Amino acid sequence: MKIVTILGTRPEITKLSPLIPLLDKEFEHILIHTGQHYDYEMDKVFFEELNLRNPDYMLNIGSDTQAKQTAKMMVGVEEVLLKEKPNAMMVFADTNTPLAGCLVAAKLNIPLIHLEAGCRSFNKEMPEEINRIVCDHCSDYLLAPDNNAKNNLLKEGLSENRIKVVGSTAIEASLRNVIISEQKSNILEELDVKKDDFIVVTVHRAENTNNSEVLKSLVEAINKISDKVKVIFPIHPRTKKIIEQNSLSFSHNIKIIGPQSYINMLKLLNNCLFVMSDSGGIQEEAATFNTPCLVLRNETEWTYLTDIGKNILLGTNKEKIISKTEDLLNNKEKIQQIKNINVDLNKEASKKIIEEIKNEFSK
Ligand code: UD1
Repeated sequence: MKIVTILGTRPEITKLSPLIPLLDKEFEHILIHTGQHYDYEMDKVFFEELNLRNPDYMLNIGSDTQAKQTAKMMVGVEEVLLKEKPNAMMVFADTNTPLAGCLVAAKLNIPLIHLEAGCRSFNKEMPEEINRIVCDHCSDYLLAPDNNAKNNLLKEGLSENRIKVVGSTAIEASLRNVIISEQKSNILEELDVKKDDFIVVTVHRAENTNNSEVLKSLVEAINKISDKVKVIFPIHPRTKKIIEQNSLSFSHNIKIIGPQSYINMLKLLNNCLFVMSDSGGIQEEAATFNTPCLVLRNETEWTYLTDIGKNILLGTNKEKIISKTEDLLNNKEKIQQIKNINVDLNKEASKKIIEEIKNEFSK
C-alpha cells in the first residue's frame, strides 16, 4: 500500500514525529512538506532534534494570504499525487497545509484519512475551524483524538463506521521527548530561571493577533502579571511582527525570546509554575506534564482537559486574565490541586493509528 502524508508547520512536525517512522516501516510512505513554515527555528530544528528523515517532496510555499498560500500548496500537491498515485492520503489537524492536501486528494478521488478529526472550537473566525470542517467532510476515514471530537462528528451527520478514536500523538511525542529534553536542554540556565519560579506565555493565533483590541488587552494583562512573577515569552514570528506594527511594547520584566526548539520548549513546559497560551499543542503538552495551562482564548477544542479542570479557559479580557492569574499566583495549593488532577492519557496513539489504517485498507 502506498500512502502520502502531508505536513508543513511546526506543530505538524512535532505531533507527527512518532508516526512517521511507523508509516515508513509499514507502508510505501511518501512525505510531502509544504514549507508553510520555513525559518530554521520553525522547521528544520525539529527535524534535527527528532531525528526525522527528510521529506520526499519539499514544496517551499512559505507565507502568503490565506487564499494564495492554500492555492499554491494545492498546485504542488496535485503534481505529486498525479505522479505518485497513492492508495491513500493522510492529512493532519487544521492548518492550511492539510486543507490544501485534502481538497486535492478528494477531487482526485484518493481515499482520504483525517487525523485529529472532529476537533471544534465553534468559532468560524478561526481559519483553523474552517479548515477542520472541510477536512472532516471531505475525508473517508476520521481518526479522532477523543470521544468529544467523535461526538462533534456524529452531530454533523458523519457516519459512525467511518470514525475511530485513536488518541493524540502530541502526548506520545511529549512523553517520549521530555526525557531527552531534561538531559540535553540548558534553557533554564540560559534564562537564569529555576523550577516553578517562572511562567511561560505564548500567543500566536490569528483571532488574537489580528484583532488589535484583543492583542492590546493580552499584552497589557501579561505586562501587569510580570510585576508578580518572572515571565518567559517565546514569541512566534507572526506575533512579533504584529506587535511591532501596532507599536505595542512589553514590560522589561518579560523575557522575550525567539521561537524555541522542541526540547527547549518541553523543558520550559515541564518546569514552569504554569503556562498561559492560545496554542492547541501546548494545552496537551502541559497536561502531559501536569503543568496547569491557562488558555488565552474564549473556547477550546481540547474540552476533555477543561471539562475536568486540568486546563482553565481564561478568555481574552484583560481584567479577567489579571484577576484569575493573580488568584492562582497567590494560591499555591490551588496550583497543586490542578497538578494532582488525573487525566487518562492515551500513550500509544501512533500504534493505534497504524492498526486502524491497516484494518480499513485490508477490507
Ligand atoms: C499556522 C496555522 C496555525 C498553527 C500555526 C503554528 C494556518 C491557517 N494556521 O499559523 O493553525 O497553530 O501555524 O505555528 O495554517 N512566519 C515566519 N516564519 C515561519 C513561519 C511563519 O516568519 O517559518 C510568519 C510570516 O510572517 C507569516 C506569519 O508568520 O506571514 C504567519 O504564518 P502562517 O504559516 O500563515 O501561519 P501561522 O501563524 O504560523
